[in-house]
Amino acid sequence: MLEDKRILLIISGGIAAYKSLELIRQLRKRGAWVTPVLTKAATEFVTPLSVSALAEEKAYQDLFDLMDEAEMGHIQLSRSADLIVVAPCTANLMAKMAHGFADDLASTLLLATDTQVLLAPAMNVRMWDNPATQRNLTTLRKDGVAFVGPNEGDMACGEYGPGRMAEPSQIVTAVEAQLSEGPLTGRRILVTSGPTHEPIDPVRYIANRSSGAQGTAIARALALLGADVVFITGPADAAHPEGVKVVEVKTADEMLEAVQNCLPADAAIFAAAVADWRVEGASNSKIKKQAGKLPMLSFSENPDILATVSQLKTGRPSLVVGFAAETDDVIDNATAKRKRKGCDWIVANDVSPETGIMGGQENAVTLISEDSSETWPRMSKEDVARQLAERISAALG
Ligand code: CTP
Repeated sequence: MLEDKRILLIISGGIAAYKSLELIRQLRKRGAWVTPVLTKAATEFVTPLSVSALAEEKAYQDLFDLMDEAEMGHIQLSRSADLIVVAPCTANLMAKMAHGFADDLASTLLLATDTQVLLAPAMNVRMWDNPATQRNLTTLRKDGVAFVGPNEGDMACGEYGPGRMAEPSQIVTAVEAQLSEGPLTGRRILVTSGPTHEPIDPVRYIANRSSGAQGTAIARALALLGADVVFITGPADAAHPEGVKVVEVKTADEMLEAVQNCLPADAAIFAAAVADWRVEGASNSKIKKQAGKLPMLSFSENPDILATVSQLKTGRPSLVVGFAAETDDVIDNATAKRKRKGCDWIVANDVSPETGIMGGQENAVTLISEDSSETWPRMSKEDVARQLAERISAALG
């Protein structure tokens, strides 16, 4: 399964480092090539000699080892791998990664790479639960870093809770999942999701009821088929999907800018409920209540992100999919909307309050293309996402 895959294994300093020897053994057994890198602290727990003997490869340690730079520069070392695995990953290395520090070979490789990274954290339970580590975890997830573990259990320090490094066999499974080729491997797909917030003043805004559930499920389903997903989301309730790059925005203008920055892409799925209008001249200070007077708000139109991308003359994704949230004449309105905006497909749904679709767990959609219209039975938003991802995969070929 891992035949001839190249794994760059970074071992940082923690008691769990002894398990990395078994990890190397299991990866080698499955046919993977393992290039080990040890931090200085890791060498207090395992010796470079044992690591290198099991990996049958040189164990790299020092950024300033000129011999290594001559053999293989750190940039090349970081990029020649199919996957970078950090096991164990200490709280310190997570913090360095989250903040972009590069003060030794391991952190420099992690900053220089454009390869997928999988972390197996290992630390004391209080360190794991610490808000700083949890913040770093959120940041790294948003950056598209994948995680395996930590597990809950008795720890070497005598405490109990989450913080134990995942077992080598679990890490191998996670490595296999990361490296498994899906039909969308190598395809870059962007997904917009959630509502936008349009400010009235610094404390008030105009929003809508979108939870982001459908967009999140689509991003996850595409990632599971191997796509390289950029997930551009407004302030939504749904937790971010794993294994995708997340870009958070608030307003429609910010969403358009983020979308443009993420092009080119093979496909773009616009599941966001973008506000059609923004408040003109939103106040920089809080609008005060004045006896007997109501504030007068005037609006201007937001950019139509879907139409902008659909009508691009150059760099248009080969498949552009919009959503149509309708309450009346769903199919007719959605069919007209697809034509007006210029997208390839439109996923129409009835968001009348009695359907419970907006903000709910289920969806009932009709997939409309230039020459067909197909109504799917009501199902969970995850199932809609899976079916749509399959269709996208088939269309991209
Ligand atoms: N959309 C967009 N940018 C906007 C408005 C909508 O990208 N400023 C996208 C949505 O993400 C969705 C599609 O356009 O994919 C249709 O959104 P919808 O709210 O149904 O349509 P509107 O353009 O707002 O039209 P209307 O309000 O007239 O129904």
